[in-house]
Amino acid sequence: MQTWNPERYATHARFVSDLGQPLLDLLAPRPGERVLDVGCGDGALTERLVAAGCRVVAIDSSTAQVRAARARGIDARVADACALDFEREFDAVFSNAVLHWITDPDAALAGMRRALAPGGRLVAELGGHGCVAAVREALAIVLDRRGIDAESCDPWYFPTEAEYRARLEAHGFAVDTIRLFPRATRLPSDLTDWLRTFAQPFLAAVPDAERRAVCDEVRRRLEPRLRGGDGVWVADYVRLRVAARSLGRATCDTGAPPRRTPPPERPGAPAGEPR
Ligand code: BEZ
Repeated sequence: MQTWNPERYATHARFVSDLGQPLLDLLAPRPGERVLDVGCGDGALTERLVAAGCRVVAIDSSTAQVRAARARGIDARVADACALDFEREFDAVFSNAVLHWITDPDAALAGMRRALAPGGRLVAELGGHGCVAAVREALAIVLDRRGIDAESCDPWYFPTEAEYRARLEAHGFAVDTIRLFPRATRLPSDLTDWLRTFAQPFLAAVPDAERRAVCDEVRRRLEPRLRGGDGVWVADYVRLRVAARSLGRATCDTGAPPRRTPPPERPGAPAGEPR
């Protein structure tokens, strides 16, 4: 189970919202627009939508993060991104670094399209195919040595461009841009902090007493690849950035298999930025 602690998030994951500006630029929010922020976290990025003059409703599955977002004055609500119940209420849906945590991408896309007025925009960024592949591989090796199949606890959905485009189109979106790009991401703290912040479902698969050893082993394996000469860890993020418009109807034949992993409490994310 993945949980989110606002203090821990602010210390070890602030880069997620700090790196969100290019996505906001792609949205190009206009004053007075109604915007739904799906997976607002502690609201650091949502605040910029409010500052742009938008009327924002923000949702997140983490009660603690919603509380933190409300403390910023944001209209934040606890809700599951796979069970959105808005009907044609928004000019835009915005989502940064959340949709790779979603267990049922079709349910999320259907809900986001329903939330949009016809012609409304979806601007979103998620981890894309190959995201944190080195970290995933190291976790798989270290867990396998303990008889645990890492795939069975892997919470992440990192689609290819083609797969996500097909899902978007099946849900009645016209895709304006979709782009997969590597974004090596400098971490603000040690890899162990990243693992404890973002990889909880893997760590939860081992007894409490062994988690330290698992982190140490993953760290040792990855240090030659992911730690620079300056001592900074650089994670091998890959992003999938999307801008699409609702056509107001869906065909809903994605042709893609449903997902298999269990739900997290919420997402959070992180540098080089094409459009
Ligand atoms: C993120 O973008 O939040 C993320 C990417 C890879 C693993 C976990 C989280």
